Amino acid sequence: MTQHNGTASHNGTSGHLRLGVNIDHVATIRNARGGRHPDPVRAAHLAAEAGADGITAHLREDRRHISDDDITMLMDEISLPLNLEMAATEEMLEIALKHRPNACCLVPEKREELTTEGGLDVAGGHNHLTPYVARLRDAGIRVSLFVDPDETQLNAARSIDADIVELHAGAYCESCIDGDHEAADVELDRLRRASGFAADLGLEVHAGHGLTFDTVEPVAAIPQLVELNIGHFLVGEAIYVGLAQSIRNMRNLMDGARANRVDA
Ligand code: PXP
Repeated sequence: MTQHNGTASHNGTSGHLRLGVNIDHVATIRNARGGRHPDPVRAAHLAAEAGADGITAHLREDRRHISDDDITMLMDEISLPLNLEMAATEEMLEIALKHRPNACCLVPEKREELTTEGGLDVAGGHNHLTPYVARLRDAGIRVSLFVDPDETQLNAARSIDADIVELHAGAYCESCIDGDHEAADVELDRLRRASGFAADLGLEVHAGHGLTFDTVEPVAAIPQLVELNIGHFLVGEAIYVGLAQSIRNMRNLMDGARANRVDA
């Protein structure tokens, strides 16, 4: 199926904040038993109906959740733009070039980690990353780099011609969970400043990792942000209220935060 281009027509000046729903953990539950249930593709269709603007899936080197077949089926069946998260390796590049998703988000990946623990070191790894960015972009795929909210990394992302940076929101979210309000304020301020800095460099700015109903609003209110990518919490919350309702609730919080910003 032809994918809608997820390109935002602005860099945060309009009110709409895109929601990318990460369906990795639907596959985690499926893989706990093998078989096909629950099906990430069905979750992607539900997400679209519930107000998602895009679908994100991380094809990890160890295939612990999303599989190669999932990517094929998502590309064949969904009309929302697919953001394929992947490590910068030859294997993943080949897969991306075969499928040509709307966007690829390059992330650091370690086999032993539970989830993506930190941002990419773009500044230290630009020699390695530059050809991946170029080859993806040459194929018409938008390239996003998952980075910490740090000016050095953002300058490096600009210098290797990334289209998008996704700011790692994990440190902010973890401080909130720990109840450390002072640290949360510091981390939120880092996200705010990095968003402004990246937008001024001409980068499209996204954020994600660890966002929940309790943490999303101040992030959603950051005016330069164009998209949030959210997964684990939405799938967890689906156990209580269903996936569509979980996504609608998140969408409402994002829209409310954005509306307050616009009206302010
Ligand atoms: N963005 C990136 C780059 C990620 O690696 C992840 C986790 O897979 C997410 C967003 C979503 O994070 P979470 O599942 O904590 O919402």
